[in-house]
Amino acid sequence: MSDVMIDARDLTKLYGTVAALRNASFQVNRGEVVGFLGPNGAGKTTTMKILTCFIAPSGGTAQVGGADIFEDPIAVRELIGYLPENTPLYTEMLVLEYLQFVGKMRGLRGAGLEARLRRVVEETSLGDVIGKSIGELSKGFRQRVGLAQALIHEPPVLILDEPMSGLDPNQASEIRELIREIGRERTIILSTHNLAEVRVTCGRVLIISQGQLVADDTPDELAARAGKPRFIATLKQNGHSASEIREVFSVIGDAQSVKERTGAAPGELLVEVVPKGNQDLRAEIFQAAVSAKLVLLGLEQRGENLEDIFRQLTTGNGGASS
Ligand SMILES: Nc1ncnc2c1ncn2[C@@H]1O[C@H](COP(=O)(O)OP(=O)(O)OP(=O)(O)O)[C@@H](O)[C@H]1O
Ligand SMILES: [Mg+2]
Repeated sequence: MSDVMIDARDLTKLYGTVAALRNASFQVNRGEVVGFLGPNGAGKTTTMKILTCFIAPSGGTAQVGGADIFEDPIAVRELIGYLPENTPLYTEMLVLEYLQFVGKMRGLRGAGLEARLRRVVEETSLGDVIGKSIGELSKGFRQRVGLAQALIHEPPVLILDEPMSGLDPNQASEIRELIREIGRERTIILSTHNLAEVRVTCGRVLIISQGQLVADDTPDELAARAGKPRFIATLKQNGHSASEIREVFSVIGDAQSVKERTGAAPGELLVEVVPKGNQDLRAEIFQAAVSAKLVLLGLEQRGENLEDIFRQLTTGNGGASS
């Protein structure tokens, strides 16, 4: 079997005249955890519904584990566990009843069903609430029930639509940990608005904006797109000239450039040091200043963060498809 688990080609979805998705192509390899990131209305849920065969695309197609969504939707659904955006849990049902019900819908019976129930309840730590009705559970526990139903038939692929949304930070970190566990031997696509989330959980990020994919990178590559870090030192002038001070910092081996910056307060100098790579030069800058008996009043690291890149990629015209 090939390593490509999800292969989406030129997916387009029109709602009337609105293009919810435009020519989206991407691949997800076996074992990858990919974050699907984009602002509200970007087309994340639409893509997930297409991959799970809940809606058909207006153009293009996709294959999951080699099965085509048009030709073999049953095989596709068997390969996928799906946590929808608003998990339609039956609130009056007991957790156990619900999971039994979902298991039966997935064709499990008897001892096989019992064994799977035990396993998913353990995996999602639902043991203590198994006899409660779903309506009594906190949002975090409902999300666990949602994950348990997605896992019941042991699918190799999981599609999770905003699994962390609406959770408090503790619940979110528990669910994140759970997804990491589950993701060890599965292929996962999860959608989120939260960049920090993606950094922790995902090996790769697909950014979608206005129905178009605008980036397909690892979180680190994405951060690198923002450009290098730069370090701004504020120094007491004490009669030194800017060129003297530049020389002091030019001895730093990993410094690519040292420049004076405008905007210094009277009696002070601002110097910007850019590293050759992505090195953190704060310690070296401090040492160089001390050795030259310069008074360092401040040292700041700047660089665009992931939020900035996300904003750049998802505002205006959305940028070019990559
Ligand atoms: N059933 C529908 N009928 C008409 N338009 C729809 C329908 N479903 C989605 N859309 C539109 O398609 C676009 C993409 O919606 P989608 O739900 O895929 O976005 P999303 O990225 O999941 O957003 P969110 O972060 O808010 O969940 C939006 O403009 C939305 O209004
Ligand atoms: Mg959505």
